[in-house]
Amino acid sequence: VARPVRPGHYELAQRAAKVEIIPGTRTEVWGFDGVFPGPTLDLRRGSQAVVRVRNELSVPTSTHLHGGVTPADSDGYPTDLVVAAGRGFRPVGGHSHGGMRIDPDLWKFHPGARDYVYPLDQRAATLWYHDHRMDFTGPQVWRGLAGFLLVRDDEDDALPLPKGDRDIPLMICDRAFDEDGAFRYPSRDPSLLVRAGVDDAYMEGVQGDVVLVNGAPWPELEVAAVRYRLRLLNASNARRYRLELRPGGRFVQVGSDAGLLAAPVEHDAVTIAPAERFDVVVDFSAYPVGTRVTLVNTLDGGTARNVMAFRVARKAADDSAIPARLSRPGRLHRSDAVTTRVFDFRKSGEWAGAWTINGRPFTPGTPLARPRLGTVELWRLASDFHHPVHVHLAHFQVLTRNGKAPAATDGGWKDTVDLRPYEVVEVLVRFEGYRGRYMMHCHNLEHEDMAMMADIDVV
Ligand code: C2O
Ligand code: CU
Ligand code: CU
Repeated sequence: VARPVRPGHYELAQRAAKVEIIPGTRTEVWGFDGVFPGPTLDLRRGSQAVVRVRNELSVPTSTHLHGGVTPADSDGYPTDLVVAAGRGFRPVGGHSHGGMRIDPDLWKFHPGARDYVYPLDQRAATLWYHDHRMDFTGPQVWRGLAGFLLVRDDEDDALPLPKGDRDIPLMICDRAFDEDGAFRYPSRDPSLLVRAGVDDAYMEGVQGDVVLVNGAPWPELEVAAVRYRLRLLNASNARRYRLELRPGGRFVQVGSDAGLLAAPVEHDAVTIAPAERFDVVVDFSAYPVGTRVTLVNTLDGGTARNVMAFRVARKAADDSAIPARLSRPGRLHRSDAVTTRVFDFRKSGEWAGAWTINGRPFTPGTPLARPRLGTVELWRLASDFHHPVHVHLAHFQVLTRNGKAPAATDGGWKDTVDLRPYEVVEVLVRFEGYRGRYMMHCHNLEHEDMAMMADIDVV
């Protein structure tokens, strides 16, 4: 947990450090404060946090608060970079986008450090911060540049849900390792993949064969036979998981990406796409003491099948409960939308095989839409493939999937939706908070780096 340097002010230094992830080996991570995941920022609604990010790495960085309602200047735009003090940097990028050049005026360089301002005027939710550098988000997040930011509020605190050490954020991600323990990423320059014509090998993005939870491979957590609140985040570059409990058990979902649901929803399985969050309660009193309960990923039959285990160690008193009503998040209706827009996510034959939105690779400074602040829009998202679609700043509700009712796991306010092959998903997006340049993109980080991203200017 990060401690403020003075009230409301935090400092995070991005640096390389060697840590033991695979027993007996050392892995160089690029971490906020040299750790992976980075320190958790545990903050309150309405109390502004200023986070000074100091870059001590050999590469430029941009830090984005995923799910945050922040002024555009603090959103972590891909060309708005912090460069280590004393290090020159020549703008590169755009080459993965079919030779497209980026307007030189769009590059911004902050030498050494910069402040990001997070007003946190938003509901309690599980947010996360991560790198967002142009063309290199995939490799830089893979090396460790990600952490949790929790927003708490009185409404959530007043509920009898599990608290304290029974309220646990779990960052799930997959990684591959070389023999000596180094993170293995196919290329540091995603454009090379495209140029060499080998990008088809990474159609699905980069996946690893080791599953890490909060930075540890297949960990085991000792729990008491009581309820726990687990804030699940899929921080993988590209892997989706269908999480289930063995031997049996249910998740009671209480929250989604952007905060509490209206009422709890029970699931036997939870499919979680990159960047999605599920806030769930698991009741370990359902198992005899001594049981090893495993969290498995039934989408994979190999080493990525196991995620983590919980060992039910002892009985304990439990004063928690899951109330039948959680929140009044408000429901949007089709008739609330002032505009309908269609966004088509697909791989293009042109642009050197870039991933495109409406046929266009990411073109910084040229927005695909200009929604008006204070309005709701209906967005129809269509795809050729799996694309977890994410919108900055604005939260949304899923209205339909392929013309039918949304999935049981689509409930609540979201900022990322799992768009499946050949699907059309309708979402109602509410623009509130700030005007300025934001973005939408596929959160498969290799697709994002290969141009499946667009500016959205809120006017
Ligand atoms: Cu989690 Cu634009 O990203
Ligand atoms: Cu985001
Ligand atoms: Cu994608």
